[in-house]
Amino acid sequence: MPPTPEPNPGWSPDTWQQVGGAHQFEYDDPQDLARVLVQLAAFPPLVTSWEIERLKKELAQAQAGERFLLQGGDCAEMLRDCTPGAITNKLKILLQMSLVLVHASKKPVIRVGRFAGQYAKPRSSPTETRVVDGQGVTLPSYFGDLVNAPEFEPQARRPDPMQMLRAYTRSALSLNFIRSLVEGGFADLHHPEYWDLSFFSHASLAPVVRDRYERMVERLGDGLRFMEALGERTIDDLTRVEFFTSHEGLNLYYEQAQTRTVPRREGWYDLTTHMPWIGDRARQPDGAHVEFFRGVRNPVGVKIGAEADPAQIARVCQRLNPGDEPGKVVLITRLGAERVRDLLPRLISRVADAAGRVLWVCDPMHANTQSTTSGIKTRSFDAILAELETTFETHAACGSHLGGVHFELTGEDVTECVGGAAGVTEADLSTRYASFCDPRLNYQQALEMAMRLGTLMGRT
Ligand code: PEP
Ligand code: CO
Repeated sequence: MPPTPEPNPGWSPDTWQQVGGAHQFEYDDPQDLARVLVQLAAFPPLVTSWEIERLKKELAQAQAGERFLLQGGDCAEMLRDCTPGAITNKLKILLQMSLVLVHASKKPVIRVGRFAGQYAKPRSSPTETRVVDGQGVTLPSYFGDLVNAPEFEPQARRPDPMQMLRAYTRSALSLNFIRSLVEGGFADLHHPEYWDLSFFSHASLAPVVRDRYERMVERLGDGLRFMEALGERTIDDLTRVEFFTSHEGLNLYYEQAQTRTVPRREGWYDLTTHMPWIGDRARQPDGAHVEFFRGVRNPVGVKIGAEADPAQIARVCQRLNPGDEPGKVVLITRLGAERVRDLLPRLISRVADAAGRVLWVCDPMHANTQSTTSGIKTRSFDAILAELETTFETHAACGSHLGGVHFELTGEDVTECVGGAAGVTEADLSTRYASFCDPRLNYQQALEMAMRLGTLMGRT
């Protein structure tokens, strides 16, 4: 039995509103906002407390080194991308990567999508200025489809509460499709051919990646059949395919509206997603986001950038998890390939001394972003891999362990990150650059990354 959670003195779903400074944007019509929130609160939840508790248990096992977390998806989902093709392609690449990781680590993999709700984006500035018809025009920044729309026009950039209802609906549609696919056998590990992407046999897939993957699937299939023939029971655990959802819990109005108590369970659940996370810009120990998320029973992720103060991170963990509940806190470091050796050891030791149990995860994407000379945002495959590698090594050297990875990726054949076996170069970036936000690994870079990660895991 997990320990009973500590009561949360002085907390209710709206106490974050007294803290202030939660958002970089404002809704201009409080009545309009209130009307939408009443509707959102009346709608059914997107996920259930049973699923959340199951994920927390699995994350606790990952903390103990018995599972590995794979979290990935778009930087920002867009309402218009709620299409069957985009959803199945995302599931397929996550499934394929997870298979590679199961094979390499010999551990069950927890699959968590950045999907069915990843619609909000923090920005470096609350406003954006552009020259329009020779005049400087300043509008609110685009904060993701949960808040406003990307077009640089006053109407589009106005934070509109209705966007929350639209995003809730798209999340529900996505989840409905994902659940049906998974239940219907699409994700059956006996049939990895179901998840081949249409361009899997495409000439552009580097033969070395395809061959390695195909050989691995064959070996895995043999192993699976062999263990089943022996009547091996643990096989159920390895082959049961489940997807959990996650998103940055940026817009606290949205999270609050779907936060409730449920029959026969203690405490409050944020039912917009299984695992919300707090972004690197919003993780102040006394800030509104930590105030909100300290009150919910979901596992909560915290992003940690290079500027983070280890003492503050320990304080965040204490506030989020005063009872040291296993599986509750997931610390996602995104320090930059070159800073890991310098910064991670102090974080690890401070958290170990003062903050209890956490699951350490590496996001090798966000601190390895660069702009090309022509101003295109990109990330290099090698820098991403280097951050993973040094993070694995540093944990091992500190007597800790890395229990998961967090990627921005897509199942589409885009050209946003450079490198990998297919050799995407800076000159190729403009050919199929689709992200409105950060550059994602494309399908084959993601699969190749999983293979390289598998090799690292085999080593440590
Ligand atoms: C993100 O995950 O898309 C993001 C904005 O990350 P971070 O908070 O780590 O910058
Ligand atoms: Co991003």
